[in-house]
Amino acid sequence: MNKSADKSKKNPEAVSKEENAKAILELKGKKYELDILHASMGPDVIDVQNFYRRTGCFTYDPGYTSTASCESKITFIDGEKGILLYRGYPIEQLAEYGDYLETCYLLLYGDLPTQAERRRFDYEITHHTMVHEQMRAFFQGFRRDAHPMAIMVAVVGALSSFYHDSTDINDPHQREVATRRMIAKIPTLSAMAYKYSLGQPFIYPRNDLDYASNFLHMCFSVPSEEYKVNPVLARAMDRIFILHADHEQNASTSTVRLAGSSGANPFACIAAGIASLWGPAHGGANEAALNMLEEIGTPENIPKYIARAKDRNDPFRLMGFGHRVYKNYDPRARIMQRTAHEVLAEVGDPNDPLLEVAHELEQIALKDEYFLERKLYPNIDFYSGITLRALGFPTSMFTVLFALARTVGWIAHWREMIADPHRRIGRPRQLYTGPVLRDYVPMSKRGTGLGDGIHNH
Ligand code: SDX
Repeated sequence: MNKSADKSKKNPEAVSKEENAKAILELKGKKYELDILHASMGPDVIDVQNFYRRTGCFTYDPGYTSTASCESKITFIDGEKGILLYRGYPIEQLAEYGDYLETCYLLLYGDLPTQAERRRFDYEITHHTMVHEQMRAFFQGFRRDAHPMAIMVAVVGALSSFYHDSTDINDPHQREVATRRMIAKIPTLSAMAYKYSLGQPFIYPRNDLDYASNFLHMCFSVPSEEYKVNPVLARAMDRIFILHADHEQNASTSTVRLAGSSGANPFACIAAGIASLWGPAHGGANEAALNMLEEIGTPENIPKYIARAKDRNDPFRLMGFGHRVYKNYDPRARIMQRTAHEVLAEVGDPNDPLLEVAHELEQIALKDEYFLERKLYPNIDFYSGITLRALGFPTSMFTVLFALARTVGWIAHWREMIADPHRRIGRPRQLYTGPVLRDYVPMSKRGTGLGDGIHNH
């Protein structure tokens, strides 16, 4: 574990911190000194790796609200200020001036590519976009109305049955091959899941198109007529991929890291990430947010739904609102909001009624004490649904698009974890409050009835 970030990379305030600061804990009459490890940006951490061995106690943090699960150099979030940096570069600048494949290179290798590096990376990705022809058979086993995320969990996991030459996680070359295969093939598989749900033929990738244009082509092209990619929509798609590319140790990335810590192959780890992302509290929120806006329907209905969101006895929440880390506006939401307007204008629907509902809902919520007190702001999912629907995707595809874009973030974290020479299998402990030790009771000595009914559902 790096005791403190490299001085040359420290920001000024960090340098002033006392190098060997300690945390002092008094527990059951004994005093313990715990090391403090310094961050280059954001909170320092108290090192509790030997806490149990020294104190006989566990630390307790369900949901990991105050726990750093790893050291990472990939993405930094300042939730209070609404800041998001990929390898130190602000998301606003990357979304404005960069593109998704450049962002992939940055997340994977730590810096923006030179022209030559970019050309070689593009060539590698472009020439690995096809999937094994046998993979088409996997799709045939699904009903046509299968949720595309169910298909993605299955077919991405199945990639490991085709690419045995890139599943040895201890071989850096194989890790590199698996990385490029994953990034190259996830759009193809995502488009195939979409086409299968439509009953339309799969469309092969084209090497003369950029990443986002190729994806739109594979989704919306049909054999019976030429499909011309709209460059404004392709740029919007590419920017949406950038916004979703990585986000530190979120639930799905932590899932990928935990799966990878056991040595599972990269395709299986990404499939685990897709499964975790599917949840409506996480990546499934974009689909849930659009369904919510459609259910609200008109601005007149907003107060009723705000009241429901505030009612502790009602499980309804404002989907696309709130965030574990952002206690300010999610910087990605602002860019997504602007992209929504761009796409709606381009597709000729600048006055999408749902956009009006979203704006109105946001204005009302951001003046309501309940949301202000809890620092609940729109997150990336609040406007993405409107944009993705305007691009022509059904709501069932929204989380697939999130998974497509996040694949590079999952892989970047997986690589960082695997390359760590101190890597250990992740194995959390627990606060056990179940029955204490007791002896077996033979049937003859047990009750005869159905008991207190808790077991007969
Ligand atoms: C993503 O982690 C990441 O980085 C994720 C992500 C990424 O890029 O990977 O950013 C992508 O998942 C964005 C979040 C998408 N999810 C949603 O939009 C679903 C709606 N949001 C919530 O479910 C919730 O805000 C979470 C899950 C996002 C965060 O939950 P927390 O941090 O566990 O917060 P909490 O549930 O403890 O809520 C704190 C309080 C509670 O009220 P009290 O108990 O204090 O009275 O805020 C309330 C909650 O009831 N609250 C909401 C709310 N979100 C939280 N009330 C109404 N509507 C909401 N959306």
